[in-house]
Amino acid sequence: MFEGKNSTVIDEEIQGTATIKNSPIASSKKVYLESYGCAMNFSDSEIVASILTQEGYQTIKEPETADLVLINTCSIREKAEQTVRNRLTFYKGIKKRHNKNLIVGILGCMAERLKDQLLEEEKLVDIVAGPDSYRDLPNLISNVESGQKAVNVLLSREETYAEISPVKLGENGVSSFISIMRGCDNMCSFCVVPFTRGRERSRNPETIVREAKELFDNGFREVTLLGQNVDSYRWNITKKGEIKNPDEETVSFAQLMEKVAQVHPDLRVRFSTSHPKDMTDDVLHTIAKYENICNYIHLPVQSGNSDVLKRMNRGYTREWYLTRIEAIRRIIPHCSISTDIISGFCGETDEEHQDTISLIKDVKFDFSYMYKYSERPKTLAERKFDDNVSEDVKSKRLTEIVNLQKEQEKELNRRFIGKTKKVLVEGPSKKNPDEWKGRISENTMVIFKNENFKPGEYIQVKISDISTAILKGEVV
Ligand code: 5AD
Ligand code: SF4
Repeated sequence: MFEGKNSTVIDEEIQGTATIKNSPIASSKKVYLESYGCAMNFSDSEIVASILTQEGYQTIKEPETADLVLINTCSIREKAEQTVRNRLTFYKGIKKRHNKNLIVGILGCMAERLKDQLLEEEKLVDIVAGPDSYRDLPNLISNVESGQKAVNVLLSREETYAEISPVKLGENGVSSFISIMRGCDNMCSFCVVPFTRGRERSRNPETIVREAKELFDNGFREVTLLGQNVDSYRWNITKKGEIKNPDEETVSFAQLMEKVAQVHPDLRVRFSTSHPKDMTDDVLHTIAKYENICNYIHLPVQSGNSDVLKRMNRGYTREWYLTRIEAIRRIIPHCSISTDIISGFCGETDEEHQDTISLIKDVKFDFSYMYKYSERPKTLAERKFDDNVSEDVKSKRLTEIVNLQKEQEKELNRRFIGKTKKVLVEGPSKKNPDEWKGRISENTMVIFKNENFKPGEYIQVKISDISTAILKGEVV
């Protein structure tokens, strides 16, 4: 996903779970923040860091000397929750060995899903705070300091933390996330997010543009606009398309992107996640119009079969998805496309799985996040369907999908060989400090020899070699 320059360590699982361990300077009160799951969680942790900094806390790099440990959690698959539970055993040790008064808080989706049940199941935990209650953290901490356990899992219809300037944690000083909306109203039948993050709401565009400007002024050169469904971003417009306040400007996602792109031509703009049912041609034309809006779209398909998509409540068919791909290719000819795929959803037959295989062959995704279906409590799928594809079959299908994807990805990356591409320099690569890395507009990572470059600089690299996911080249 991303890798920090000095104070950040990322442990990334194949399926998108990562841990950020952060940042320096000693003070009286020290907080250690650890994040799992999607980019939104990492972005939220920066809001939490900002709220706690106001309270005199400083973020630290290692948990051993912490007064407060906050774990920002993910519930999307069972495995993500298990990872956090295992991590709590580690913190039991820390509490025993280093600080008997250590306060441990669970934030994010697991907090929201399990509520006070978490306090019963995990005796170590003192604070349970859902995604909309971070402003209440100082309060919750003082409750714990006075000897109580503290829970706030109220979901809000308005909270966007709009005016809070995030404290940058695990970033490389070059690229940053900006949260533009919260929650999700889509109710895909497999997904726990609408239950853990609540109703969809958009953030005031002025505060978004201001944050982008501040980031640019502080040396950042790439922002990723984040939302569960960015295409339904709207300011001052109701779901039905009516204007709420005639004296205020209305802003759609395409217009918001345009505003952020206009901050500076050297500020790259990315966004995630798009929804195939909502992505309009407007958005595509805006991407095509601005050189600094990256030629990369993450468009989760989930399945290549229309009956499965119906059971998933995705709101589109295979054919509709393919017309969206066709629109991308027509309007932005060199756009990279990535996707999410779930194997073994309830009732998925071999034929339905083969439709996913054939869709992957038809579309040729540049990248894909691929998962086995994991039943989540209270979701529509859990209530309506049997999780009746065996683990074995789920795994076999997933392997088939992954192998095909990898094969195609390598083939696709060949198109870059011999081409000279504009690369945003991020910093040294993990493996070899002489080799540096950066990304092209299409989001693929490029490795090149360092020639006293600075992170945040744009350079031209002639691509000479590829591996499955990474390009190599010489600076020209
Ligand atoms: N099981 C497996 N994968 C899931 N995702 C969401 N919910 C589940 C689940 N219950 C995947 C979808 C989504 C991505 C963020 O996670 O592919 O796009
Ligand atoms: Fe979950 Fe669907 Fe919303 Fe994405 S769009 S967060 S998959 S409910």
